[in-house]
Amino acid sequence: MAALVTDATGTDVCFVHLVDEERGRLTLAGATPPFDELAGTIELAVGEGIAGWVARHGVPAVVDDKWSDTRYKYIPALRGEDFASLVSLPMIRRARRVVGVVNLHSRRPWTCPPEELAVLTDVTGLLAGVVENARLYHRLAAREAELERFASRTIELQELERRRVAAEIHDGISQPLVSLWYRLSAAQAANPEYPEVVASQLTAAQELTTAALEEARRTIVGLRPAVLDDLGLGAGIESLAHSLAAGGVHVQVEVEQCELAPHVETAIFRITQESLQNVAKHAEATHVRVELSTTAGGARLVVADDGAGFDPERIGSERRADSFGLAGIHERAALVGATVRIASRPGEGTTVSVFVPREPRS
Ligand SMILES: Nc1ncnc2c1ncn2[C@@H]1O[C@H](COP(=O)(O)OP(=O)(O)O)[C@@H](O)[C@H]1O
Ligand SMILES: [Mg+2]
Repeated sequence: MAALVTDATGTDVCFVHLVDEERGRLTLAGATPPFDELAGTIELAVGEGIAGWVARHGVPAVVDDKWSDTRYKYIPALRGEDFASLVSLPMIRRARRVVGVVNLHSRRPWTCPPEELAVLTDVTGLLAGVVENARLYHRLAAREAELERFASRTIELQELERRRVAAEIHDGISQPLVSLWYRLSAAQAANPEYPEVVASQLTAAQELTTAALEEARRTIVGLRPAVLDDLGLGAGIESLAHSLAAGGVHVQVEVEQCELAPHVETAIFRITQESLQNVAKHAEATHVRVELSTTAGGARLVVADDGAGFDPERIGSERRADSFGLAGIHERAALVGATVRIASRPGEGTTVSVFVPREPRS
């Protein structure tokens, strides 16, 4: 493009500077040879030099004698002494956003005539479109890569979950069943003349059955929250809260009826589950509040405890490979387009808040 523009205008060199809006700076992104080698190495602040002035004001600058122009900034590498005049044009996109600046330099003194300036402004407008499309493309590619990472992470988490369930079935269900078998065998082998021995073995067997059943129920809830299908998210959250309350924590639950997609309900349920498990494991809290509410823009989940708290920055930096709890919360949320905030400080409790926007964000 730079070469095309210089040919068409009879100028000698063309510099293309792009605006980095976040940093408020202009970077030389391309040029006619030999200056193309400097791409990426020259920066100006928006407002600095003639290009910076054009970026700030969004209007062209026609400079026939740059040495008498106070806006001009001499940059040795760009060899300003070799060129007499320049035209600096903004690359403008929608809503008058300046995405870059094109500078055309000529050796001979040159005052760009207005009709030529109008054509050049159209050309730089087109160039602005090209730049914006390229940026959008890069953003899309980055987003796609991120989605891929999510997908593989999800599969990883799934595998981990399966291993956890296998361990749970082994410890929590198979073990009591083995003991149960021994109790029943003992009852069977007992001398019928001592019915109290038989009775005590059967009582033990009954307790083991209850324990195994309870464990199976817990594993099933953990596996696939069937409670969501049967009773809905509200009841699911209540049941999670109940099991925490059984451990002696005072749990206050306020659940509003929310219309959420099934996969979003599952995500919210899992996030609540992990948050409450963390309360049980780490917080030593006396009081926990679980709140699911609808807001104008979507649904909000809050799990707040008054326990020990922690330093999220420290936990984030030393995240262990085997710890998926908080990381899993972030990932589950991201997968359904929700945002998470985990606020905690040692001694001041922990609040996990999740916001699910009603419409999937574009
Ligand atoms: N509610 C909480 N109260 C206090 N500390 C917490 C709480 N939630 C998380 N933490 C801290 O953050 C760490 C990371 O949590 P998590 O990622 O869920 O891993 P895990 O529960 O397996 O340790 C925990 O080890 C704990 O130190
Ligand atoms: Mg955890």
